[in-house]
Amino acid sequence: MEYGYPGGHVFYRKMAHKYPLIIWGEGIYLYDEKGRRFLDGSGGALVVNIGHGQKEIVQQAMNQMEQVGYIHGTQFTTRSIEEYADALGEFLPGGLEKIYFLSGGSEAVEGAIKMARQYALISGHPQRWRVASRWHSYHGNTLGALSVTGRAAARKPYAPLLLNFPHFPPPYCYRCPYDLAYPECGLACAQALEKLVQMEGPETISAIILEPVIGATIGAVVPPEGYLSKIKEICERFGILYIDDEVMTGMGRTGSWSAVDHWGIKPDIMVMGKGMGGGYFPLSAVVTRRDIAEQLKDKSGGFTHGHTFSHHPVACAVGLAVIRFIQRQKLVQQCRERGAYLLKRLGELKSFPFVGDVRGKGLMTAIEFVKDQKTKEPFPRSLKFTETLWDLAFQNGLVLYPGTGFVDGERGDMVMVGPPFIIEEKQVDEIIDLLKATFSQMEKMIS
Ligand SMILES: Cc1ncc(COP(=O)(O)O)c(C=O)c1O
Repeated sequence: MEYGYPGGHVFYRKMAHKYPLIIWGEGIYLYDEKGRRFLDGSGGALVVNIGHGQKEIVQQAMNQMEQVGYIHGTQFTTRSIEEYADALGEFLPGGLEKIYFLSGGSEAVEGAIKMARQYALISGHPQRWRVASRWHSYHGNTLGALSVTGRAAARKPYAPLLLNFPHFPPPYCYRCPYDLAYPECGLACAQALEKLVQMEGPETISAIILEPVIGATIGAVVPPEGYLSKIKEICERFGILYIDDEVMTGMGRTGSWSAVDHWGIKPDIMVMGKGMGGGYFPLSAVVTRRDIAEQLKDKSGGFTHGHTFSHHPVACAVGLAVIRFIQRQKLVQQCRERGAYLLKRLGELKSFPFVGDVRGKGLMTAIEFVKDQKTKEPFPRSLKFTETLWDLAFQNGLVLYPGTGFVDGERGDMVMVGPPFIIEEKQVDEIIDLLKATFSQMEKMIS
């Protein structure tokens, strides 16, 4: 039996998709009811950091559920919440100390936008409320998070509902928004923030939010050297808080606990999600400096925010078990090493005429597709290149994470490869073999 629309009562996310029924998962593989095996090459949406079916995570979740499954975040705390916060606190970028637990990435982004606003209010800047961000970014789908998100197709239907937040171009060197080349460009894309702030009025901007390595929309775009520190310097000069969105990049994904560690950036606020719970439980967080948290407490009695499922004891027990697993197996280091190997092997795919760029950091990588390797002309959207290729890979038993529309809001094709950190070298080879087989089929289809 195949599942999908119109089917029963499930309102599926992809209504044209035929859904295999997954029965179990182990390591980097998923198995459906027919015994078909899928290599989870993207860990879902770069979530399954430590692999499927890890018994010790299940055990820790069950232990916590047996003790107590739920308490309200305004009434009680548990050992799991306290111990997880302390363990996570060890790995936060310099200056960040206070962790507010939530359930999803968008929720954490909403929290960060509000925290920046409340901080502006108590710091005597009541006119600061807007959050600057970049085009082609992804920060989530709830209305506040979508207002900072720069993915045109996700924004368009909801444009009248979105907040008036300004956007500037991303550091997308493969298609430089200014047609310049690094380093002669003088980081024009970072200077763009300064121009934007001056035009919009620095007194109106509470914060900026950015992904250190751009994820779901463009696919694993690593900023050039000096970019993030330039952005931070501009923020400091104008009294703007720096919100670091590590929902996809955090928890070791790029080969350091937080991606900003690669460049020594100290954010004012950070948001995390996805891999925190390894996919075993929804878990996210907004993290900030102790002095910001203390001022919120002293000047307005705390953070004016909250959700029913914040500070969830089982989520925190799972988060703690995930951290211990990563530490014991030295998976952040492994992520760095396997990531380098994966990126090297992905480079071989450039022999296919439609592979334009291969990029990434750690186990967060992407392949961008083009009609013409020399001119970088994208495929027309009508070809649905990414969707077709993604489907072929899926039929071949390889799960990828697709993205479109990042060239001009419509065109632009890429897939992300972001497997669990436990992946072995020979399993990376298996991904490459599956990609090569899929790309050969695709080559025949479009020629
Ligand atoms: C960088 C970033 N921020 C925020 C989000 C939103 O997270 P969620 O889908 O859990 O709401 C995502 C999701 O892909 C993301 O990649």
